[in-house]
Amino acid sequence: MPGAIYAEGLVKTFGDVRALDGVDLDVPEGTVLGLLGPNGAGKTTAVRCLTTLLRPDSGRAVVAGIDVLRQPNEVRRSIGLSGQFAAVDEYLTGRENLQMVGQLYQMKGRAAKARAGELLDQFHLSDAADRPTKTYSGGMRRRLDLAAALVVSPPVMFMDEPTTGLDPRNRQELWEVIKQLVAGGTTLLLTTQYLEEADHLAHDIAVVDHGRVIARGTSDQLKARTGGERVEVVVHEREHMGTASEVLARFGKGSTTVEEHTRKLTVPVTGGAKLLAEVIRELDVRGIEIDDIGLRRPTLDDVFLSLTGHVAEAKDETSGPADAAGREQQKETAQ
Ligand SMILES: Nc1ncnc2c1ncn2[C@@H]1O[C@H](COP(=O)(O)OP(=O)(O)OP(=O)(O)O)[C@@H](O)[C@H]1O
Ligand SMILES: [Mg+2]
Repeated sequence: MPGAIYAEGLVKTFGDVRALDGVDLDVPEGTVLGLLGPNGAGKTTAVRCLTTLLRPDSGRAVVAGIDVLRQPNEVRRSIGLSGQFAAVDEYLTGRENLQMVGQLYQMKGRAAKARAGELLDQFHLSDAADRPTKTYSGGMRRRLDLAAALVVSPPVMFMDEPTTGLDPRNRQELWEVIKQLVAGGTTLLLTTQYLEEADHLAHDIAVVDHGRVIARGTSDQLKARTGGERVEVVVHEREHMGTASEVLARFGKGSTTVEEHTRKLTVPVTGGAKLLAEVIRELDVRGIEIDDIGLRRPTLDDVFLSLTGHVAEAKDETSGPADAAGREQQKETAQ
């Protein structure tokens, strides 16, 4: 049975650019899929196709059990979307923006008002609630945009870079909100440039590059694929590197990498901290002075780098005045 978000062979071209080149996704109900990928990988395009904002050239998508291409209106009623560019009306106040969303979803005036109040509280926007949003900071806009996506708590949510441009405290708070949402049964597809965010929130991760899913798995599975833990040693004296290398070879599970100029030796290991202690003891017995030693586990950054050849770069592009893309998205969402 397909999950709450399902895509098969999605293709979308813009002129010569194959933004999506056959994307398959399957997100089980009540779980979070993190979509990772370098700039231009196709993340936003995938989200837009799945949320009916863009029609794919070919492929199939089913969201909340509804065929996205055949019944876009029904899909729209079952999903929430928070876009990469905050889509708020800057001439309305924060409160008005949220109430308007409620009304778009046919909530009664009083219910929309109550829900707006709740969300403003939850996102720490109560003090600014009655100011036009054009006076809001980038972080405040982003929080409001996310609050707007949560007005009706739909069963399936899409968030395109929900925390880009937020400061660390706001990001953490948002993670808590997202976790609560998921604990309540919501299925979520989230794109992010912050690998830590995917590590923290996503049950499953799909790495996208050039419009294709190039790897898929839990964070731990992807890390294991990149290579397990390693011991890194920086020896004090260059002439000790040979002996240190012999020691590491005894404990290692693979060949030792030696960096002459930094006097650093790295070897893959299994056995964690206990093994590290043994290595330290042995180096000490052999009279090898060390400047640094540590057990290093691959991070999602390592995974990302080895898969895509790019370093993940967190951008800060919280839009100032709602930009063209945000405006367009807002209009489309409001249809
Ligand atoms: N409306 C459009 N017209 C032309 N090309 C587009 C359009 N939208 C996207 N593209 C192109 O499609 C590719 C994928 O873009 P997309 O916005 O999906 O990437 P992304 O993974 O979301 O990147 P980012 O991390 O920068 O947000 C890019 O090469 C982009 O230039
Ligand atoms: Mg994008």
